Amino acid sequence: LTKMETLKNRILEDGVVLGNDILKVDSFLNHQIDVELFNEIGKAFKEHFKDKKIDKILTIEASGIGLACLVAQHFNCVPVVFAKKTESLNLDKDIYYSEVYSFTKKKSYKVMVSKKYLKAGENVLVIDDFLANGKAMLGLEDILNQAGAKLAGVGIVIEKGFQGGGDDIRGRGIDLKSLAIVDSMEDGRIKFRE
Ligand code: G4P
Ligand code: NA
Ligand code: NA
Repeated sequence: LTKMETLKNRILEDGVVLGNDILKVDSFLNHQIDVELFNEIGKAFKEHFKDKKIDKILTIEASGIGLACLVAQHFNCVPVVFAKKTESLNLDKDIYYSEVYSFTKKKSYKVMVSKKYLKAGENVLVIDDFLANGKAMLGLEDILNQAGAKLAGVGIVIEKGFQGGGDDIRGRGIDLKSLAIVDSMEDGRIKFRE
């Protein structure tokens, strides 16, 4: 078994489907963290992005943080920056921010990064646990554009292919690597894209 087959098996064994479109993977990804698996995920992203110069990793709080840190260890321990969702940074002129609409939560929220931690010309790899409609990713892309930084690629653990965010990102020519793409979850049965 390849390591990423291990990930898919883990999703099949431990994943709980809620309704037709929410996949709960709290036992290894979103609540309890399987550090060994995260380490393998880091290796898999390194393998995919090995020819790229990566200066920094960008993610969003909360679930992305631990993941991005383990991934960074496979990219020469580059710094990890996480976009914040709470307005603890209230010095408007010192932050980049973007508005994100969450389909899961049915409301908009802001994502913010201090101007100190993203610089023009930096090559940034975006890492996140889930990709659904891709609105959070659009917010991060907007912030990278404001900073004049370059999006080197996107690494996702679980893409929900049926929600279209991933196809949109690939369609715009961005180097997106999703380690598992779930194409349907009807009647609780998880089907992966080949
Ligand atoms: P979108 O950005 O792709 O449009 O997705 P959406 O707004 O619907 O997602 C909001 C949050 O929910 C995101 O977490 C996303 O990763 C997560 N999410 C979306 N679909 C699923 C799912 O099927 N299962 C699980 N476990 N999570 C899902 P976030 O913004 O990173 O917040 P946090 O949970 O890390 O704090
Ligand atoms: Na999440
Ligand atoms: Na996330």
